[in-house]
Amino acid sequence: MSGLAIQMAYVVAAALFIFGLKLLGSPASARRGNLLSAVGMLLAVVAALLDQGIVEYQWILLGFAVGGVIGAAAARLVQMTSMPEMVALFNGFGGMASLLVGAAALGTSTATFTLVTIVLSILIGGLTFTGSLVAWGKLSEKIGSGAIMFSGQKIVNSLIVLAILASAVMFCLQPENLNWLFLLIALSLLFGVMAVIPIGGADMPVVISLLNSYSGLAACAAGFAVNNNILIVAGALVGAAGIILTQIMCKAMNRSLSNVLFSGFGSVKTTATVIEGEIKPISSDDAFYVLEAATNVAIIPGYGMAVAQAQHAVKELCELLENNGAEVNFGIHPVAGRMPGHMNVLLAEADVPYDQLLEMDDINPRMENVDVAIVIGANDVVNPAAREVESSPIYGMPVIDVASARTVFVLKRSMASGFAGIENPLFYKDNTRMLFGDAKETINALIREFS
Ligand code: TAP
Repeated sequence: MSGLAIQMAYVVAAALFIFGLKLLGSPASARRGNLLSAVGMLLAVVAALLDQGIVEYQWILLGFAVGGVIGAAAARLVQMTSMPEMVALFNGFGGMASLLVGAAALGTSTATFTLVTIVLSILIGGLTFTGSLVAWGKLSEKIGSGAIMFSGQKIVNSLIVLAILASAVMFCLQPENLNWLFLLIALSLLFGVMAVIPIGGADMPVVISLLNSYSGLAACAAGFAVNNNILIVAGALVGAAGIILTQIMCKAMNRSLSNVLFSGFGSVKTTATVIEGEIKPISSDDAFYVLEAATNVAIIPGYGMAVAQAQHAVKELCELLENNGAEVNFGIHPVAGRMPGHMNVLLAEADVPYDQLLEMDDINPRMENVDVAIVIGANDVVNPAAREVESSPIYGMPVIDVASARTVFVLKRSMASGFAGIENPLFYKDNTRMLFGDAKETINALIREFS
């Protein structure tokens, strides 16, 4: 294949990535977007192989088969609630791949530019690998999910950064001395662990997104190291998309990125919130009478809806309410659930029309006109402490203002806290009624009352 044809194939692949990303922006077109990007990647891989003039394909085909089977099985078998863990692992392997490509580029050239790109792909790839493994361990609770802080941590980290800089410079000066390379790899792997252990709790999804961005940057650096245009483009796209998502999530939690990375969520003891009021449980029979009279209902789903797999029952209840003359909207918080878009994916699976899904900023001004807000397995994203309690770790995070609705039903199994591990004053408000039980069973009980 001629050089021009290969470069043309790269341009087509890059265009497919960009269109794919664009289509991923809406739940209606996301599947097509995913498929387009995958086709783009296949094209990029085939063109890159032809570009290298490889004649023996047996190892490549074996790798392709093994990787394909593992990827397909992982995607098929993963529980919806474990998606962020899988993303964390995949980011980590992406980082390791870039580290290996960077190391393999050694010896191709001693130009300073190549050496610097090798250093960057090893450094970013290495820290992405171990950082992602720690993030995976925390999210899957294989290791404690809290922030790990110790005195002198910042000094230790600063010393590691200095050692990384020194070994990187020495490697560029003496590329033939592999000890510098091995030292750089070891320090990068250590730094990934040290950078992620002080982050915990509700900040983990932001870290996963940031590591996703790093895996892109590592691939981009590896692309420069091996002089492959499509790797540069793909890496830059992942790097940019990851950092934009990181920004969106920080905004949704009202935190700056530096606050997420360096403050150690939940490690600072805050004074316990004194909550006034009492818990008022309600039965599904009584809840039905209130719902039957409602003309404007808002449904706020959260992680518990995913756990209960209640989305189909929710859709059925929604139709019954509409047939009864009520307007029903869904309020979607950007970090509800355990991954970006988690609620949108579940509700799309149950065929809830997209125009019924309102973002937080659109539903909040309407909340005063809502007769009943039904909170289904959401907790942190409807916690009024974020607005009212200055000492709360989530103070300042934008939340869905369900307390402004006339009546609030909270569907959950117990008084347990949510992901952030903090109390929720919403449950004690005068207009809140607790519908205890598994969300799916509770909604099915309401459906039975309607029928
Ligand atoms: P959470 O605050 O985690 O609360 C979920 C609630 O669901 C829990 O209080 C739990 O109470 C209830 N629940 C669990 N299983 C249930 C079931 N079968 N039936 C009924 N209720 C059930 O959820 P949220 O409001 O969606 O907030 C998300 C949190 O996760 C935020 O802190 C966010 O920062 C964080 N986070 C978000 C993401 C992304 S990107 N979305 C990723 C990771 C973490 P019971 O145990 O009493 O039932």
